[in-house]
Amino acid sequence: MTSTGNLLVLNGPNLNLLGSREPAVYGSATLDEVNELCISTAESAGFSVECIQSNHEGDLLDAIHAARGTADGIVINAGAYSHTSIALRDAISGVGLPTIEVHISNVHAREEFRHHSQLSAVSSAVIVGAGINGYALAIQHLAKLLG
Ligand code: DQA
Repeated sequence: MTSTGNLLVLNGPNLNLLGSREPAVYGSATLDEVNELCISTAESAGFSVECIQSNHEGDLLDAIHAARGTADGIVINAGAYSHTSIALRDAISGVGLPTIEVHISNVHAREEFRHHSQLSAVSSAVIVGAGINGYALAIQHLAKLLG
């Protein structure tokens, strides 16, 4: 299928450890497997996708800024920065691209400090607790939004 748009999937700190990190909480899939899921889901919906992971807040900010003009929508799992980063929130609202926030685990069933995300209010949708399928759901939803 010819691609009708481009999506950015951004993963934040510690998500490079997927597969070995707390498998009871995050499952056994690796980040490579998550990226493969994102690529195949996007391709089925007629989109191309770029997958980026960084442990550095500034790199995540740069990637969001660079998405202006190169991507039509963003899927972001900012890991622990979701709970703390007003800078990431400002970047998302600043570029104005439709953004879906994803968390693999059900953050609301975990520690209190995970219950609030700085990003939720500037995201088009939030998907939590669906495991890595949350990324696929987010891409399908973005594809629908972008028509
Ligand atoms: C996470 C939840 C965050 O609270 C945590 O800091 C992560 C992963 C998730 O995908 O469930 O690193 O974003």
